[in-house]
Parts: sequence; structure tokens; C-alpha cells
Amino acid sequence: QTVDWDASAAGKAGHDHYMHKEIHEQPTALRQAISGRVDDLAGNASLNIDLDDGFLQTIDEIHIAACGTSYHAGLYAKELIEPLVDISVRVDLASEYEVYDGHNTQDTLVVAVTQSGETADTLSAIRRAKASGMTTFAVTNTVGSTITREVDDSLFIKAGPEIGVAATKTFVSQVTALALFATYLGRLRGTISADEGADILEDIRQLPSAVQAILDEEAQIRRLAAQYSDSKAFFFIGRGLAQPVALESALKLKEISYAHAEGFAAGELKHGPLALVTENTPVLAFLNQSAAPEETRNNVKEVESRGAPVIGLATDGADESFCKHTIDIPELGRLEPLVANVALQLFAYHVANEMGRPIDKPRNLAKSVTVG
Ligand code: AGP
Repeated sequence: QTVDWDASAAGKAGHDHYMHKEIHEQPTALRQAISGRVDDLAGNASLNIDLDDGFLQTIDEIHIAACGTSYHAGLYAKELIEPLVDISVRVDLASEYEVYDGHNTQDTLVVAVTQSGETADTLSAIRRAKASGMTTFAVTNTVGSTITREVDDSLFIKAGPEIGVAATKTFVSQVTALALFATYLGRLRGTISADEGADILEDIRQLPSAVQAILDEEAQIRRLAAQYSDSKAFFFIGRGLAQPVALESALKLKEISYAHAEGFAAGELKHGPLALVTENTPVLAFLNQSAAPEETRNNVKEVESRGAPVIGLATDGADESFCKHTIDIPELGRLEPLVANVALQLFAYHVANEMGRPIDKPRNLAKSVTVG
């Protein structure tokens, strides 16, 4: 007797697509990213990085260069690092990254965020930084990748291989590694006490189970995706830490469904995008309590009064008035928008699946963009 065997189906471990498998692998990927990197006694992250502590204590600026989803992880990192470490963080799309004459290159750390470690635009940004004499650091998933050979030091996100063109588990793992790095920097520079460090690390440690709680809500998210899959366009709005997640959620949806999707800072809606809002444009709104929740509620009211169905991503106690639907998000401080992102990965996946799109290999896109 013979059994039909298909390597691709076997690789998907019972899931219809790699993307779906990778979304569900996130609790495991996160445990790998965190494992062995939390020092409870010291209230610090233990990262084994080779960059000199003396240098990290004295830098006065961090530049982050990245593309696509990794750029959004960089934006999230800026929102984490600036208040925790009290240092200025500039985040550039790698293709736009320039070093200006007169820049204090000796006191700047340049961080490349790249899943593959092979993205041409990111490599070339790092080469420009090195040519200006700056210290370079990579946050990457790929051991032995080109970037790891070119930078001064690397931090691995340990997410495991990602096959789907749409980055999912690597986004949450990048942000988690950067949150650990922020903790390490803050402890080193004395801007975070041991108790504060322990609190941040406890939130990081809760991440896998918080993400699992979202995965357990997949049936509800799938129903919402089916209900709105023929919409004209989708808008995502968020404030503070949720703003990069709004951008990331829109990228995910457009990449795999080909639907028109845009992410905005919630406060920017009234400066133009509101003109696009109709009863046929669902608005997915992050109601995170960490950033001016009343103002976000007012933004939600503005779109709701124009007839847009609002899907709110909300923790217990958030003001859900004006939302037509709510997806419950576990409370997790600074990492709450990261957890909410998982709900919108599932939303994007199910919208694209309803539309019959080739989810793992969207048209015109490659997993790794090795041309500039
Ligand atoms: C994400 O879903 C995309 N496929 C894409 O934006 C990707 O994040 C970008 O090309 C950067 O890739 P990297 O992280 O491997 O550098």
C-alpha cells in the first residue's frame, strides 16, 4: 500500500496556507525569542550582545533603517525606546536612508531590522552608515545572512523559517526582540529601574499566552472577514504604539487580498482621509488605552457618523461606543497593540481566503527583495 505524499502539504502541517500556519506558530516563535533572555533577578534582558556597553551608554541617537513590515517593527521600536531610554530614535525606510554632512556619527547606533537579512535596500543603507563610520547592528531572523556578515553585531529574533510572503510571526518576534533591547538599553543607561525592568519583562513573558487568546477567537474574526470581504476599501486607525500596527495591518491586507487598504494615525483622519470614508469602507480602530483614548473615540465617532462600520480592537473597559463590532484584546501595557496585530493578521488572511487569492505567493511579490 502506498500513501500519497506532497512535500508542500506536509510543510503546511494541516493548514491550507503557510501564512495560516505561521500565524498559529506565533506563541511558539515568541517563546523562542524570549527564552533565556530574561534575567529576573536583575530586572533586565540578557541578550549576549557584543556591542560595547560603554558605547551603548554614551550614544545620543539611534537610527533604524528597514523596509515594509520590518519598517513597521522599527516604528513600534521607536515608540518603545524613546520614552523608556530617553534617546532620540529616527526611523527611515531603508531606501530613503541618508547620512547628512555634519551628523555626529560617533555617537549614533544604526539598527537594520530585516527578517531575511538579504533585502538590498537595507543592505545598502547599512553600507552607507558604515561608510560614514557609524556602528551598525542587525535585528534579523536569519543566521549567516549577508547582513550579519556586514554589521558590527546582530540580535536574532529566533522566529524559525517563514515561508509565506506575508511576514507575520517575524513581525511580532522583531518587536519582541526590540522590546528586550529597549529594556537592556534602559537598564544600562539608568533610565529604567530594576522594578520597571521586571514589569516590562513580565509583559513580554505574557505575550505568548496573550497571542494564543487572540488565536482562540479566530472563528469570530473569520465571520467578520466574510461579512466585509467585498468592501470597497479598508481603513486602519491607531494612536501611539498602535499607529505602526495600523500601517502594518493595512500592508498585510493589501498584500494578500489586493483590496485597497490604508493605515493612518487616528488624528490624521480629519486632515484628508475622512473624504474617503463611506458606508462601504470598514474602519478597524485600535482603542488602546495607552494613547489618548477619548480622542480616538472621537475619531471613531467621526467615521461612524459617515456610515462606516467600525470594528474596534479593545481591552476590557475601553469605550466601545460607536463601534459596530468589537474584537477583545487582552490587556498587556505597551505590547497590547502588538497582540491586536495578530487579530488583524487573521482578518487579512480570511478576507484574502474569501476572495480566493493565492495567499502564500501574492502576485508581483517575492519573499526577499534582493534588488534595489
Ligand atoms: C511583508 O509582509 C512583506 N513581504 C515585506 O514588506 C517585507 O517585510 C520587506 O520586504 C522587508 O523584508 P525583510 O524583513 O526580509 O528585510
